[in-house]
Amino acid sequence: MSNVATVVTTLVALFTMSWQLACVGILVIPLLIIPTRSVGRTRWKLLTDSQAKNDEMNQLINETLSVSGSLLVKLFTREKREYERFVAVNEEVTQLALKEERSGRWFRVVMGMFTQIGPLLIYFAGGWFIIHDLDPTLTVGTVTATVALINRLYRPVESLLNIQVDFTRSLALFSRIFDYFDREIAISTPEKTLTPSFEGADIRFYHVRFGYEPEKEILKDIDFTVPASRMYAIVGPSGSGKSTIINLIPRLYDVWGGAVTIGRVDVRDMDLTYLRSQIGMVTQDTYLFNGTIRENLLYAKEDATEEEIVAACKAASIHDFILKQPDGYETMVGNRGLKLSGGEKQRLSIARVILKDPKILILDEATSALDSISESAIQEALETLMAGRTSIVIAHRLSTILAADEILVLSGGVIQERGTHDSLLAQGGVYKELYETQFKLVLDREMEKQKAEEQGQE
Ligand SMILES: Nc1ncnc2c1ncn2[C@@H]1O[C@H](COP(=O)(O)OP(=O)(O)OP(=O)(O)O)[C@@H](O)[C@H]1O
Ligand SMILES: [Mg+2]
Repeated sequence: MSNVATVVTTLVALFTMSWQLACVGILVIPLLIIPTRSVGRTRWKLLTDSQAKNDEMNQLINETLSVSGSLLVKLFTREKREYERFVAVNEEVTQLALKEERSGRWFRVVMGMFTQIGPLLIYFAGGWFIIHDLDPTLTVGTVTATVALINRLYRPVESLLNIQVDFTRSLALFSRIFDYFDREIAISTPEKTLTPSFEGADIRFYHVRFGYEPEKEILKDIDFTVPASRMYAIVGPSGSGKSTIINLIPRLYDVWGGAVTIGRVDVRDMDLTYLRSQIGMVTQDTYLFNGTIRENLLYAKEDATEEEIVAACKAASIHDFILKQPDGYETMVGNRGLKLSGGEKQRLSIARVILKDPKILILDEATSALDSISESAIQEALETLMAGRTSIVIAHRLSTILAADEILVLSGGVIQERGTHDSLLAQGGVYKELYETQFKLVLDREMEKQKAEEQGQE
């Protein structure tokens, strides 16, 4: 605003003193405007490129310096290669930043040059008028004053033009931000949302079709009902879509066809926050935030009391372990929980779900085999958790399968067989094959171990 005020007052002063000299002085201004546009465009381009490169560099850093990433780098001795990759991207980022700075410099040099030309022209024209006596009112004083005023005019004009360059530059940043705003929301809540009671509600998959990418259907025709308070197990070969099925219940994705209903209400008609607050999900790979054990537990219920926390941890058979730590519940778990073993992490995540106290429980058992002590500890924890809740478990452990009210065998995008363990074995189909290749092996190994232990005791 002060620049605009200066420009206006200076122009008025210039024209009242001598309109001819004023015209000569502002002749230069269009010359200032022309480079502004091209500089704005170049800077826009450079900044867009440099933002993209910066993203690439950040992603590289995040990937290679994360806990799992750095482990992978070490195990495959890729340190040198990763270092070189970083140096290369970093060099590109640097070059782009330098280029951007330089494009601004060039602009300022040109501006400086033009602002020197103005006074030159005024002295020349003023001198010419006086020598040839073309304008009797013109004095040396007026010429000098005009030059002084014209110098006051260029600085604010330059600043105003710079604003335009900065503005274009910022727009390049904003266009990236707006790209995110413009993305379509894949999972949106309907205008009139429902919050039905989950008490005694069954979970129904009604001829569900789904895939992550178009044309690549993963679930072809999934149809089953889990009655209230029952526990159903899903088994099937790796990659058959077990985790995909359960992702549809808290509406992490929307179905292509058919519907998922809870208590006869389509999940797409429910309030999303409400729906997710009623579902407890223990995922295949447990995730903990870098913080204390207590902080991770409170993630499920911010206002949980000390008694509730302890009760949940006791139920998940992790309380004794926590007490053995020097800092107890204040022990730091490390990035992604790396200071804990796989079994400890699982039990902690089960405790977290117990604290949440959901009506529906979904469990994606980890594929990794656990030793029999932690396995039975987890089994106990789970039984406490599932009692009285509608549960779906993707089972990798025989003990879970045997505890299920019904087993759904998934293969080729449909549920091929269903029934209890014994009836499915008797059928001699996919389940029998799965049992013999996956579960029985684990079972046999356990039996052998037990036998060896018994012999050792004798
Ligand atoms: N986010 C995703 N985007 C695209 N494809 C995916 C995605 N998640 C899974 N898939 C694909 O969907 C198929 C089913 O995956 P899913 O994770 O449901 O298998 P799963 O039965 O849980 O296997 P596992 O027993 O190994 O955990 C796989 O072929 C997988 O490659
Ligand atoms: Mg899975």
